[in-house]
Amino acid sequence: MNRKKIGIGLLILLFAIQLIRIDKTNPPLELSQDFIAIENPEPEIAQMIKDACYDCHSHKTSYPWYSNVAPVSWMLKSHIKGGRQHLNYSMWASYSDKEKEHHYQEMKEVIELKRMPMKSYTFMHSKAKLSESQKASLLDWFQSKI
Ligand code: HEC
Repeated sequence: MNRKKIGIGLLILLFAIQLIRIDKTNPPLELSQDFIAIENPEPEIAQMIKDACYDCHSHKTSYPWYSNVAPVSWMLKSHIKGGRQHLNYSMWASYSDKEKEHHYQEMKEVIELKRMPMKSYTFMHSKAKLSESQKASLLDWFQSKI
């Protein structure tokens, strides 16, 4: 195959995969189940968690324009699915005290190890980039809950 044919083939493939859309309906929101509503952190802490974590770890996901573009949309969907599976702030009330404590430990850990918020996310969401002092107050607050 020559280059031109490969190029055309790729282009057709890129158009074809656009037909495979992701489901963007958020599961229902119940305020009585919500982490921030229940734990009631100070507004700055609440804002940080909403800005940096809620898109993947709650039912309050806002989908950016590129969530319409495959294959990026597929990656995004799998992050949201994986995120909600590990920790779902919209289902906080359903966790036992032991599970909550475990989640607080893990929340601390992922911030300390710089695993969360994910880099591929902060790249497009500057509000989710936490400064060192923001991280410090977030860590203090998580610690105070354990
Ligand atoms: C772009 C999506 C995304 C964002 C934003 C995000 N997470 Fe995650 N998170 C994931 C995914 C996917 C997983 C599961 C796979 C993994 O561990 O990488 C996960 C896993 C976790 C876990 C489970 C621990 C573990 O070891 O896997 C915790 C706790 C967590 N995230 C906390 C946070 C916190 C706190 C924030 C905000 C500061 C955040 N995440 C922001 C996608 C995200």
